[in-house]
Amino acid sequence: MSTEKLQLYKCEVCGNLIQVIVPSYGELVCCSQPMKLQTVQHDSTEMGEKHAPKLEFRENKSYVQVKTHPMLPEHYIQFIEVYKKDKSILHLKYLNPGEIPEFEITNFDDDIEAIEFCNIHGLWGEDKND
Ligand SMILES: [Fe+2]
Repeated sequence: MSTEKLQLYKCEVCGNLIQVIVPSYGELVCCSQPMKLQTVQHDSTEMGEKHAPKLEFRENKSYVQVKTHPMLPEHYIQFIEVYKKDKSILHLKYLNPGEIPEFEITNFDDDIEAIEFCNIHGLWGEDKND
């Protein structure tokens, strides 16, 4: 099974989380076992509502926010990514507990997608039904 550009894989033993920059055919292994592909979750439940990154465009800037999610040391959003849909450009912002989970990008076109990663609930994308 080949990897794909920007896929995220997690080690279920040690918690290493890695992203594929240049894909190839080798299996990704950590702590002597295959790493688990993280799939992007989308849904319209309360859980999805809490986790879905919201994209807004104002004055030549793109804003991504995950307003209602906690940012506590035990439960927080670890990073937000914004990338062009063709995956030619990637922006990543690391977050810490206590910070506001938002990301501002200047001079970006609207052909972008956003994802965020919660330390407990994993990878989430935008709610397409918004
Ligand atoms: Fe969460």
